[in-house]
Amino acid sequence: MDKTKYKSTVTEAFNNAAATYDQLGVEFFTPMGRRLVERADPRPGQRVLDVGCGRGASLFVAAERVGPSGHVLGIDIAPAMVEEARRQAGTLGARHVEVRVMDGEHPDFPPASFDVVTGSYSLIFLPDAPAALPRYAALLRPGGRIAFTSPVFTEDTFPFLPPVFTELIPERLLRNLPADWRPDALKRRFNSWLQDTGDLTRTMVRAGFEDVEIADEHIDLRAPDGETWVDWSHTQGMRLLWQHLPEYENRQLRHRLTTELDRLRGEGPLHLPTPVRFVSASIPN
Ligand SMILES: C[S@@+](CC[C@H](N)C(=O)[O-])C[C@H]1O[C@@H](n2cnc3c(N)ncnc32)[C@H](O)[C@@H]1O
Repeated sequence: MDKTKYKSTVTEAFNNAAATYDQLGVEFFTPMGRRLVERADPRPGQRVLDVGCGRGASLFVAAERVGPSGHVLGIDIAPAMVEEARRQAGTLGARHVEVRVMDGEHPDFPPASFDVVTGSYSLIFLPDAPAALPRYAALLRPGGRIAFTSPVFTEDTFPFLPPVFTELIPERLLRNLPADWRPDALKRRFNSWLQDTGDLTRTMVRAGFEDVEIADEHIDLRAPDGETWVDWSHTQGMRLLWQHLPEYENRQLRHRLTTELDRLRGEGPLHLPTPVRFVSASIPN
């Protein structure tokens, strides 16, 4: 994989998504970020690094927890996301929140700078997350904790999509995706270390962590209707799929998804219980 090219594709997608990211009335990243911070459990006065902070779904929850005597630092590769998070910090008057543009795969800080490292739905965008884990371990003080989320990958689901959608996406569309974004490449990249809990635990231990906990929980993804869900899906990782579809295919898929989602929701809002993997671990004291 050409990592530079891959990262610039990801940066561009999230730069373009930043203005509407998590702003369309679909609840997913915010409840997930809140739950992640509960699991990471930062204490008042502590220092937190949030990798791939986006607009701050977990960053600002961590900031509430550590309080003004603590410090929360969010890093993200997409400058437009960082700008949005910075604006939000200003609006909230949260002076103990700092955000910087930085590649989360190579965080550039002195050793033992943080008590907690978090990453919500962000490590999956690193070309080689297992190689970044020992770097996070080195950034933590003795007894420090890491906590991150990912989708729950299984053999038969297309990464990022609830199973119901797999059958709605024609095989030939997937074959047209750039090599790094085809299901087989995604599976190699993510499933190889995230799918099997034994492999995942071993990867964490090799990186220097102990007390590894892996818990799969459902986050109740809520959207007013199918159309809003599809609009929302353009503002997050799925944008990387949408942007490679020709106009006609794009309209077809939008129609199929909207119809199916509206059928699922019936009269009320859409509830899609979405499995999320919460991984947490600590550094020996
Ligand atoms: C799905 S969003 C999650 C954002 C936020 N954590 C949340 O839960 O809303 C993924 C984020 O990871 C960021 N990202 C992707 N690759 C990255 C990298 N190499 N370094 C830092 N951030 C990265 C993206 O720019 C994006 O903001």
